[in-house]
Amino acid sequence: MSDLTFLGIESSCDDTAAAVVRADGTILASVVAGQTALHADFGGVVPEIAARAHAEKLDLCVEDALKQAGVALRDLDGIAVTAGPGLIGGVMAGVMLAKGLAAGSGLPLVGVNHLAGHALTPRLTDGVAYPYLMLLVSGGHCQFLEVRGPQAFQRLGGTIDDAPGEAFDKVAKLLGLPQPGGPSVEAAAALGDPRRFAFPRPLLDRPGCDLSFSGLKTAVLRQRDDLAAAQGGLHEQDRRDICAGFQTAVAAVLAEKTRRALAQTQAPVLAVAGGVAANQTLRTALQDVATAAGADFLAPPLRLCTDNAAMIAWVGIEAYAAGQRDGMDLAARPRWPL
Ligand code: KG4
Ligand code: ZN
Repeated sequence: MSDLTFLGIESSCDDTAAAVVRADGTILASVVAGQTALHADFGGVVPEIAARAHAEKLDLCVEDALKQAGVALRDLDGIAVTAGPGLIGGVMAGVMLAKGLAAGSGLPLVGVNHLAGHALTPRLTDGVAYPYLMLLVSGGHCQFLEVRGPQAFQRLGGTIDDAPGEAFDKVAKLLGLPQPGGPSVEAAAALGDPRRFAFPRPLLDRPGCDLSFSGLKTAVLRQRDDLAAAQGGLHEQDRRDICAGFQTAVAAVLAEKTRRALAQTQAPVLAVAGGVAANQTLRTALQDVATAAGADFLAPPLRLCTDNAAMIAWVGIEAYAAGQRDGMDLAARPRWPL
């Protein structure tokens, strides 16, 4: 595996991405073209718009990545592509391009699970040994995975409703703060009093590692409406205090469930991925939980925590080394649990 170089292609949500990665962990190029502006007016990702944008931008991203890496397709050892889970139009655009490139170049093709991409990122960035515990917290996902090998994952629990990033985004919307909600809620919370409002800690009383965030969002809505009814509107400080209380509640439930997951697995390393892992309050809480459990805490750089193709190329390398090869019948899968 040591001298493999792979092209990675990612188009499962709202980022079009291509990357060239070497088996020693060197990222020769990682190109990510976001679509935030395209979806801004709609309050969420519009699948049709996303699919069209992927189809338009994918070959340019691949061309860019190869140019930045200073390699030609024929110099590579394989092509890895996200084959799911995700928005089917986008996944299909990526899979079709990858098949075309593989057929034209004769390179092997490896279909990759997007979630495996996030889950194996600590191996790409830090060479972490198996097994370790991964907490994936993004706008679309929330789960605990014990990562035992490139194709060996044990899911310990996850959200039963919203993902935490989704909750941050909805809370921002409820309070009239800009999207994406995570950074704007975090900024407002920094000036707020987390003790002024007591928000619930969903599912803490239930054993196991499952999480829930939709009740928290409803509690924020109720608090906002109560204040608005009593005062005829919301003051700036009310917004900050609500954000601080909400963020503290999210961090508290994630920290407690992480404590349980670490106790259950005895994993030596806790790693995080996903956009919500950018949140400093959450990071500090998770770092404390890891330290108390005697585990190392690892948060890859943000550009590799959020959607990218370097993580897909990496999984391609590990899976190829383990013997995976896909053919022209590789299917795009909207749902694909690990
Ligand atoms: O992983 P990501 O870039 O995209 C996917 O969901 O696939 O995650 C985006 C999510 C958004 O919901 C955004 O509000 C949230 O991550 N996020 C944050 C922060 N930065 C981004 N949430 C909390 N605190 C932040 N600082
Ligand atoms: Zn993702």
